[in-house]
Amino acid sequence: MSSDLGYRKEATTIRIGILGAGAIVKTLLEGWQRFGWPGEVMVTNRSNAARLEALAASFGVVTTRDHAALLQDAEMVLLAVRPGQVVETLQQDGPSLHAGHLLISLAAAPDCETIAALLPKEVTVVRAMPNLAAAVGHSVTGLYSQQGMIGVVQSLFEPLGTTVWLDDEAALTPFTALFGSGPGYLYHFVDLLEEGGVALGLDRDQVARFVAEMAFGALTYLKESGATPAELRDEVATPGGVTAAGIAALDAADLRASLLTCLRAAVARAEQTQAHARADLFASFAHQSLDNAGQLP
Ligand SMILES: NC(=O)c1ccc[n+]([C@@H]2O[C@H](COP(=O)([O-])OP(=O)(O)OC[C@H]3O[C@@H](n4cnc5c(N)ncnc54)[C@H](OP(=O)(O)O)[C@@H]3O)[C@@H](O)[C@H]2O)c1
Repeated sequence: MSSDLGYRKEATTIRIGILGAGAIVKTLLEGWQRFGWPGEVMVTNRSNAARLEALAASFGVVTTRDHAALLQDAEMVLLAVRPGQVVETLQQDGPSLHAGHLLISLAAAPDCETIAALLPKEVTVVRAMPNLAAAVGHSVTGLYSQQGMIGVVQSLFEPLGTTVWLDDEAALTPFTALFGSGPGYLYHFVDLLEEGGVALGLDRDQVARFVAEMAFGALTYLKESGATPAELRDEVATPGGVTAAGIAALDAADLRASLLTCLRAAVARAEQTQAHARADLFASFAHQSLDNAGQLP
């Protein structure tokens, strides 16, 4: 079936409508441009017209300001707004979804039950948590649906890296804290190493060029050697040597505790967002007629 909205035409025919045009959508588009489009893609956002123009120019995707038309025409909807924007977005756009629609939320929260309460009953809800490395085909993407693995969803994320279907939705929160946010922690670490190199008197441009190469080389070797990180660390850190002295300083500063605190803070933020979303949902139902109150989970 052809699309009146003029989706990008590809060999496959799934029509994917995307609500949101931010960082993660750009990442997915980069990945699909590189490794193969899973279907026909159309993107909309809230108000940033320049952003839509930029995505259309870079990726050739069709963009529109007409949310209702996009949702009517799409078979699969990717919800890529911030967690705190999910309830408001679905209050506006949820009624435009219809039976047979598949909605994939990329948000760290809220959960499937909260999302489903804002949609017509027959819509299937999936949650997906890719990461920024989707752009280069190395995302670790967590997926969950109450129905278990769904082939058409798998085909969306498979070209972008490794996919993991979780049995338990609760596991998606720690998964997000580690694998969704993980690239951010690593970039922070690399950025701080760069700063440290400059503080030691190394040339800023050189440091900027080589720190990423060093990190890439070390992680590639970790993956290809089959050794554990601890084994490779011990190979580098000869007792009494230079690296061992550096690692001892990290241990003395309790880097281990800092990283655990980091992951727990990410989990806590996701749980807080989930609680806010539930509160928003209850507030919205409280303002609706008694007819709708029966849908409240
Ligand atoms: N960034 C990551 O690495 C990553 C990884 C995995 C999952 N995620 C998840 O992906 C989601 C988006 O993250 P992001 O980093 O891409 O955020 P972002 O850069 O802030 O983008 C948010 C997007 O949502 C749009 N939006 C807001 N309200 C909308 C509405 N009612 N209808 C349609 N579009 C609307 C915004 O449009 P305007 O600009 O016009 O306001 C913007 O394009 C989050 O829930 C996050 O948890 C992110």
